[in-house]
Amino acid sequence: MPTTVVVGTQWGDEGKGKLTDLLAKEMDVVVRYQGGHNAGHRIVVEGEAFALQLIPSGILYPTVTPVIGNGVVVDPGVLLNEIDVLEAKGVDTSKLMVSGNAHLIMPYHQELDRVSERYLGKNALGTTKRGIGPAYADKATRVGLRVQDLLDEKIFRQKLEIALVEKNALLSRVYNRLPMDVDAIAATYLGIYAPRIAPMIADTVGFLHDAVAGGRNILMEGAQATFLDLDHGTYPFVTSSNPVAGGAATGSGLGPRDLNRIVGIAKAYITRVGAGPFPTELTDALGDLLVDRGHEYGTNTGRRRRCGWFDAVMARQAVRLNSLTEIALTKLDVLDTLPVIRVCVGYEADGVRYDFPPYHQSVLHKVTPIYEDLPGWETDLTQFTSMDQLPTAAKDYVAFLENQIGVPIRLVGVGPGREQFVDFSQS
Ligand code: GDP
Ligand code: IMO
Ligand code: MG
Repeated sequence: MPTTVVVGTQWGDEGKGKLTDLLAKEMDVVVRYQGGHNAGHRIVVEGEAFALQLIPSGILYPTVTPVIGNGVVVDPGVLLNEIDVLEAKGVDTSKLMVSGNAHLIMPYHQELDRVSERYLGKNALGTTKRGIGPAYADKATRVGLRVQDLLDEKIFRQKLEIALVEKNALLSRVYNRLPMDVDAIAATYLGIYAPRIAPMIADTVGFLHDAVAGGRNILMEGAQATFLDLDHGTYPFVTSSNPVAGGAATGSGLGPRDLNRIVGIAKAYITRVGAGPFPTELTDALGDLLVDRGHEYGTNTGRRRRCGWFDAVMARQAVRLNSLTEIALTKLDVLDTLPVIRVCVGYEADGVRYDFPPYHQSVLHKVTPIYEDLPGWETDLTQFTSMDQLPTAAKDYVAFLENQIGVPIRLVGVGPGREQFVDFSQS
C-alpha cells in the first residue's frame, strides 16, 4: 500500500484525528509531521473520547508504531502528560518514537506567545498560546533547542544560556516580565523530562525509509490545515508550519515521491478558530445552530469556533496545493435539520468572478460569496452505515460538492464515532 497523507483542507478541526484513527487499522506506522500541541484531534471509540495533541492518532492500535517527525515542535511536559493520560486509559505508548531533530518548545516560547498576542491588542491572531510561533521562529533563526539536545547536558545548557540572553532581554525590557533562569529550566528539562524522553528519541528518517523499503503501510497525519499554512494560508492569520502535503515530506524526511495517496479532509460546512478572513462565515442564528449541532468548541482550548457554509473555492485550491487524490467529508449529520443548504461556488469582487482564492489578501477580505442553494434532507443520518440508505438529497449534496471540487469523495462522516463513516467509494 502506498504512503498516505491526511491533510486538512479548511482551517482545521475537520476530523483528522477520527479519519487517521479509521485508516490506522491498516497501517504499520502513523507519523505527525508538523505543528505541536496547538492541535486537538478527537477520537471517539465505543463512547470513550480521546483528545490527542502531539501523539499520532494511530496510537490506539497496538500494531501501529507512532512517530513524531522532525517537523513537529515538542513541549516535553505536554508529551509526557499525554502519555500518562493514555496509559491510564490502558493504551500502550511504548512504541512511540520521537525525532531527535524535532525542536523543543521552551517555557519562554509559551510566555512570548502570550505576551506578544497581548501586545498586538485588537490585531491579535488568536493563537493557541502554546508557544508554537516563537518555537518555529527560533528554529528559523537557528537558536532553537532540539529534542536530541536533551541527551547532552553540556550542549543543552550551552544553547539555553545563549538563547536566554536575548529572551530575557526581550521578556524583561520589552514585555516587562520576569527573566527566566537557566538552572530552573535545566532542572526540569534535563532532570525530569530527559530521562523519560531519551528512550523514545530515534533516527526517525532512517526508520521511515526502512519502512518504505519493506513495503510497510505509512500514514502521515497532518495537523492544522491548508488555509492555516504559513505559505499558502490566510497570512498572517495562520500557524507557523506547513500543514500542506508537501510538509509531510520535509517534516518526516521521506521524499516527495514516497507520498502517493493524499486524502484531503473537509467538513460538510466550514469552521475557523481565531482571527482572519472567512468569506462564508455565518454570524447569525444559523451560525449558532451549526456551533450547537456540531459541538464547535476547540478540542483543547475550548474556544467557540466560527461557522459558515461550505466553500468550494477554498476546496479547489486545496486540491491544487496538496495534489489531493480524494476527499473525506465529515459532519454531514450536522446539517440534518436544515431545509436549505448553501454552497459557495465562487467569489465576486469589483465585478470580477473568482473560482480560486484571489492571491491578494485585500481582495479576499472584500469578496462576496456566490451561493447555490440545495435542498436539505431533514433526516437523522447518524445511524446510517451505507450509501444506499442515505436520502437522495444527502447523496445529491455530496455529489454536488464532488463536482465542484473535482476529486472523488470516498468517505462521508455521519457522527463522531469510529464506525460512523459511510463508504462512498463505489459511487
Ligand atoms: P481535527 O483537529 O481535524 O482532528 O478535528 P477535531 O477533533 O478538533 O474536531 C472534529 C470534531 O468533530 C471532533 O469532536 C470529532 O469527534 C467530531 N467529528 C468528526 N467527524 C464527525 C462526523 O462525521 N460527525 C459528527 N457529528 N462529528 C464528527
Ligand atoms: P487541529 O490540528 C484549528 C489556529 C489558531 C490561530 C492560528 C495560529 O486541531 O486542526 P498557533 O497557536 O498555531 O500559532 O495559532 O491557528 N490553529 C488551529 N485552528 N485547529 C487547529 O489544529 C489549530 N492549530 C492552530 O486558532 O488562529
Ligand atoms: Mg482539532
